[in-house]
Order: sequence, then structure tokens, then C-alpha cells
Amino acid sequence: MDLEISNLRIFTPTGKKPIAGGNISKFEGSINIKNGRIVSIGEPCKANETFDGKNMVAIPGFVDPHTHIPFYGERSKEFVMRATGKTYVEILKSGGGIHSTVNMVRSTSIDDLVRENKKYLKWMLRAGVTSLECKSGYGLDLENELKQLKTIKKLAKEVPQTLIPTFLGAHAVPPGKDEDAYITEIFEMLKVIKSESLANFVDVFCDEGAFSVENASKLLKRAKEWGFKIRAHAEELSSNGFASVAAELGAVSVDHIIKIEESEIPALKKHGTIALLMPTTSFYLKTTYAPARKLIDEGVPVALGSDFNPGSNTFYSPLFLSHLAVNWLGMTPVETLTAQTLNAACVLGIENEVGSIENGKKADIVILDMPNLEYMSYMPTNEIVKAVFKNGRKVFENRSGVSW
Ligand code: NIG
Ligand code: FE
Repeated sequence: MDLEISNLRIFTPTGKKPIAGGNISKFEGSINIKNGRIVSIGEPCKANETFDGKNMVAIPGFVDPHTHIPFYGERSKEFVMRATGKTYVEILKSGGGIHSTVNMVRSTSIDDLVRENKKYLKWMLRAGVTSLECKSGYGLDLENELKQLKTIKKLAKEVPQTLIPTFLGAHAVPPGKDEDAYITEIFEMLKVIKSESLANFVDVFCDEGAFSVENASKLLKRAKEWGFKIRAHAEELSSNGFASVAAELGAVSVDHIIKIEESEIPALKKHGTIALLMPTTSFYLKTTYAPARKLIDEGVPVALGSDFNPGSNTFYSPLFLSHLAVNWLGMTPVETLTAQTLNAACVLGIENEVGSIENGKKADIVILDMPNLEYMSYMPTNEIVKAVFKNGRKVFENRSGVSW
């Protein structure tokens, strides 16, 4: 054996399918790892290396299925504007918001993007995120959308995490352009992105101040024809029925859905669409929260993501996300952990490899210093993350001491 992580209490979902609600099993003992994969759980095995997990808990590496990495620059002035009364949509419509970040991304290089975003990926790794979605959407023309997607490709070679790329050319209509004409431009971008294999998913922001239901539907249909998997930013700011439309079109997930109508929920269940909720953004924008309980009680699997981006949410910690899920979405700690690991992996299509601590899966494991499962949402400080393993390799250990 290459590595034994010993003396653990292990909390994990099991399987390779999204779970509506939650299902967490508890094991005790060792996790034995060879060639980056979990070989057995329970009895200790002789190994080249041992990590003593005494008094610690092991959970699967967190999967963050929705981030806006890579981006460039910051928008703290907008944050203060919002704190003092302006809304997200007002700032977006007056040429700020997403457009501010687009200007900064357009005037930077791939190397600078890689440097800047490695920093965020390092923060995330220390917080236990071992796989995540990255997306474009701050280029809004072929050259700069490709720049972002190539940045993701470069980052994927240089950081330990698994990065899954999404093309979000339809994040906003570039200023001075007509929405219909820009959609046609995006169709052309799809061809290049397909031929260079730069994205697994195509996403669209269908909302007030972004794309209409009609254009968003056209785009997702076309993307599907081109062989992309599809997903959507749906009903974050306003209720327009796009969550159920995207589900009918075959979206793997519908993301945000703060304003989804109850009558749309059966469509998500029928088409096996995952509801991807991001209470971090509700918290950051001081808006309402998605109807997580209704979705779960109707049998829709829920995944949780950060939506980490420079405008609508800058919180990346999965522990803080778990706090918001329990406290504001009314999810149980068991549902929350399932939503941040297995269900999130199902959104990204990596459920055969990660998302649970099971024989055969990759050894992506977070070691937490906590007495029980509830504790991580109750005391959501990153200080409880004691170690992070990716593919069976220790990529973070918190040994920092203070001296006084
Ligand atoms: O998911 N909703 C659209 N996009 C992001 C915000 C991006 C930004 O403000 O830069 C979101 O909230
Ligand atoms: Fe988003």
C-alpha cells in the first residue's frame, strides 16, 4: 500500500448517482490507498506512508460545481455601492458588474490570468476543494473567451485540483451589440471551442439584464446538437420559467433558481435535472434563498456550489457554504454533505472518479478536526481543515502554529 490514513471516523455518501435528499454512511478505521485510489476501508494495512487521523473525521474532497474562475481584478467599489443601496441589476445595466470584469480580463494576458487564479485555487485547496468547475464568460468575444478557456487548460496542468471547463460566452450581451446578433456570434464560437476541445459544458445566463428565454433556449439547443453537455444560470434575479425550459432541453443542472415557481419543480424531477443552489450568492447580494426544502421534498437532487466570482459572491469556503445551507436553506447536515460531494460530482460528470470515499474511487479526502458531522456547519472555520489529499497525495496540511 502507498498510504494509510489511520484511526478515522469516515462520513461519506456512496454510489455514482445523484441522491435526492441525503445519505451518509459512517465507517471507522483506516483508508488504504494505492496508485492514488482507495483500495480498502476499515482494517489497517501495511503502507509506505501513514497519516494518523486520531480524533479526526474524513469526508470526500469537496466538489465545487459552479465557480467563475478565472477572472481578473476586483470590484470592491461595487460591493460598497450595493451595501449603500444600489442593486446588482442597476450596476449591470449601467455598464458595470460583469462588464467591469470583462474589461479587466480583455486587457490582461493568459500568464497573468494563470498567476492571479492560482491564488484562488490555492485558497480553495486549503479549504478542502479538490475538484471544481471553471468557466469563461468574461471575454464575450472569440479571442477573449478562448483566452479564458486556455487559461483553464493551463491551470489544470499546474494545480492539483480537477478542473472541469464550461463555456459561458452567453454571460452578458457586450455593450453596443444586439442580443440576436451576439447569439449568432456565439454559435460560431461553439465550433472553435468544439474543435479545440476546450469545454465540456455550455452555460447561459438567462435573466433580467442578460439573455431572453428565447435566445437562451436557442443556444442550449444548438450546443446540445454540437455535443456539449448543457446547464444554465436560471431564475437568479427574476422568475421567467427558464429552469423548467432548460430541464426539458436536457440541462444537467439548473443553477441559482432562487426565483423558481413551484409549478416548475416536477419538470426538474422528470428530466433528472440537478438543482444547483448557491446560498453564498443570496447572502452576498442580500436576496432571498432558493426553495431547497421544496425541491428535495419533491424528489429533486440538490447540489451546492459557491458561485465564487468578483461581483455577486466572493465566499469560496465549502464550510461556510455548508453553514448557509443548513441555516438558510433548511437542509440537514447529511443532505448538505451529499450536495457538496457526490451530487456536485454528478453535475460535473466526474461521479465515477470522485464524490465519495469508496473502493476504486480516487483518494480525494479532507481531514477535519471535529467531533461530529453537524460541527462543520455549526463552526464553519477553515481552521478545522487539518489535511487535504488529492489522488492519494497530501496537498495540504495545517501545521501552522501561533506563538505568543
Ligand atoms: O452567477 N449571474 C451571473 N453571473 C454571476 C455573476 C458574475 C459577476 O457579477 O461577475 C453569478 O452570480
Ligand atoms: Fe454564476
